[in-house]
Amino acid sequence: MERFAGLLEQLPRQQGEMLRALHLAQEELGWISRDAIRLIARHLRVSEAQVYGPATFYAEFRHSPPPKTLVTWCSGPSCRVVGGDRVRRIFEAEFGCRLGENTEDDELGLWLGQCNGTCERAPMVWVNGRVVGPLTMLETVKLARRLKDGEDPIAWPRRPIKIAPATFVAAEQVYGAEHGSGHGSGASSEGTGQ
Ligand code: FES
Repeated sequence: MERFAGLLEQLPRQQGEMLRALHLAQEELGWISRDAIRLIARHLRVSEAQVYGPATFYAEFRHSPPPKTLVTWCSGPSCRVVGGDRVRRIFEAEFGCRLGENTEDDELGLWLGQCNGTCERAPMVWVNGRVVGPLTMLETVKLARRLKDGEDPIAWPRRPIKIAPATFVAAEQVYGAEHGSGHGSGASSEGTGQ
């Protein structure tokens, strides 16, 4: 929370920064907690209700802590025409939970996501916010099992894995600099795996 508060301080105190602040909260904390809403309201000088509105309007924002490992399944058309539904069914079978649920011990979760424009990676999922794909069905099974074993998904598979700057902050670091916002160096710090 301390780190989030520090990052929040760097945002201009304008209501127009609301979504940016909410994205920041979710990326730093994993969800939009009551404390985060309070901090954002205080920083942007608005009421808590004015933060609560957009935080609950957009399905993107979570209101409970995420599981330790969250697989977000892309429900977009590009992913679905190349086997996205089979990817979902594999995760459901391997994790033993349905889309939108966590495993009983809350270690793993399979949640719904929307296309974020990385369709060239279809069919894909996000693992803790990082794009993993394109996935074959066999790779999906292996990925699900590795996640169940607590392995680092980014170290998998052996062939180059494509990881997009899927988070808001990472995207700003990569693309913000290209557009002159000066938030980063212009190069992603995320690796390309093995
Ligand atoms: S449809 Fe899945 S990333 Fe676009």
